[in-house]
Amino acid sequence: MVLAWIGVIAALCLILLSLAHATWRLQIAPTPSSPDARARIAALVATQLAADGCDAPTIFELGAGWGGLAARLARMPASATPCVRGYERSVVPYVVSRVFRQRAPGLTFHRHDITDAIAEVRAGDVLVCYLCPEQMRRISAALRARLGDDPVAVTLISLSFALPGFSPAETQILPSLYRARLYRYAVSPGEPQVPLS
Ligand SMILES: C[S@@+](CC[C@H](N)C(=O)[O-])C[C@H]1O[C@@H](n2cnc3c(N)ncnc32)[C@H](O)[C@@H]1O
Repeated sequence: MVLAWIGVIAALCLILLSLAHATWRLQIAPTPSSPDARARIAALVATQLAADGCDAPTIFELGAGWGGLAARLARMPASATPCVRGYERSVVPYVVSRVFRQRAPGLTFHRHDITDAIAEVRAGDVLVCYLCPEQMRRISAALRARLGDDPVAVTLISLSFALPGFSPAETQILPSLYRARLYRYAVSPGEPQVPLS
């Protein structure tokens, strides 16, 4: 009995250590987005997919955390349901999303960096994220490189943090306590890019 308790406590300590280490390394905790933010993001994604009329687009969630937002996006009305791929580096949220969230058809989670997702985007795909300034800088650099060598036009929707070097096509302010911003970017080879500071 005592050994079982020691095992449980050791497992809890390992989980906490893993979460703390990933938060320190990535500079962002796996904080889930709120239900109203998810509803707004899903509405923006659905509008974008309908406007693009693109065949079989993919939605990439950059930093999928516990998988709740990706699962919400995979539940969009059948006619608009695309393939949804969540990318997450932190082990504990990744395992939880694989075990509990990967149920909807077309929804998959990957333990890869967000830059791996950007290397895979094709024209008409949609990128969704809720990250931090450092990771937004990395996305900006990766998108610039992608636009350079194999030009693609994609949409990026970001909760709370702007994409350095790009001008948003649309900005919404969420009616929540923190009045967070939701940015939509139309990232294309013709997009005038502002120099990175
Ligand atoms: C604020 S949480 C957002 C969770 C989820 N997107 C949501 O809206 O509920 C940000 C997540 O991004 C992950 N993350 C940060 N940088 C990453 C990177 N470079 N590659 C993959 N995941 C990353 C973190 O581990 C964290 O789980």
